[in-house]
Amino acid sequence: MSSRQKFIGGNWKCNGTVESVKSLVETLNKADLDQNAQIVVCPPSIHIPYAKSTIQNKIEVGAQDVSQFGYGAYTGSINAEMLKDFGLNWAIIGHSERRSYFGETDELAAEKAVKAISAGLSIIFCFGESLDDYNAGKTNEIIKQQLRPLLSKVTEWDKVVLAFEPVWSIGTGVVCPTHQAQATHDFIRNMLKEEVSAEVAEKMRIIYGGSVKAANCADLYSQPDIDGFLVGGASLKPEFVDICNVSQ
Ligand code: PGA
Repeated sequence: MSSRQKFIGGNWKCNGTVESVKSLVETLNKADLDQNAQIVVCPPSIHIPYAKSTIQNKIEVGAQDVSQFGYGAYTGSINAEMLKDFGLNWAIIGHSERRSYFGETDELAAEKAVKAISAGLSIIFCFGESLDDYNAGKTNEIIKQQLRPLLSKVTEWDKVVLAFEPVWSIGTGVVCPTHQAQATHDFIRNMLKEEVSAEVAEKMRIIYGGSVKAANCADLYSQPDIDGFLVGGASLKPEFVDICNVSQ
């Protein structure tokens, strides 16, 4: 088990109606949550105000993305200053679904990260290899490429949580084998140690995402370098509470 504070993110993605969000918040509000965990849920923007004003104090609310720009003529965008002004402290950045549907590059993700951090937000920075890269044994190489722009730009590392999410595991029901996930998290921590500092490496929460469920999270969380999870599908269900309370 990790020695760092457990971090559980709930990425609701593009899901939810007024009614279903209300019922999910009610379920979460009834839950007895691990007081030692840090829990952040990220609803679609349109549901953020309701979630933020009604969800129990133990759960923070964040955004699923943030613009690389400030205020201005950027139709459809929400910027970091707006999130902060609204009282939010977290944004997910660089999710592989944004990379694939919206063509976000590693550089753009790093640019958004810098913008968000300079506005005072903390970020859940996502990255992970494709199935082809995994099968070709290129996981570490790809991760290095994906993290390089971030490593060269960020200075406030206490505002970063790193989310390793193999693309082939997201929404597929295929979870990364525990030993493989631990090996990759260890690789990431070593990269931080070599390229940033031993202190940042030691303190960094590196969380895993990809088909995390109540049934598989305890095994993953037993590993020394897996500090929590970014949960998609299961974050919309009551089992999210069990994931938050893993190893309690
Ligand atoms: P999943 O999504 O839990 O539905 O696989 C994880 C994510 O994309 O953050």
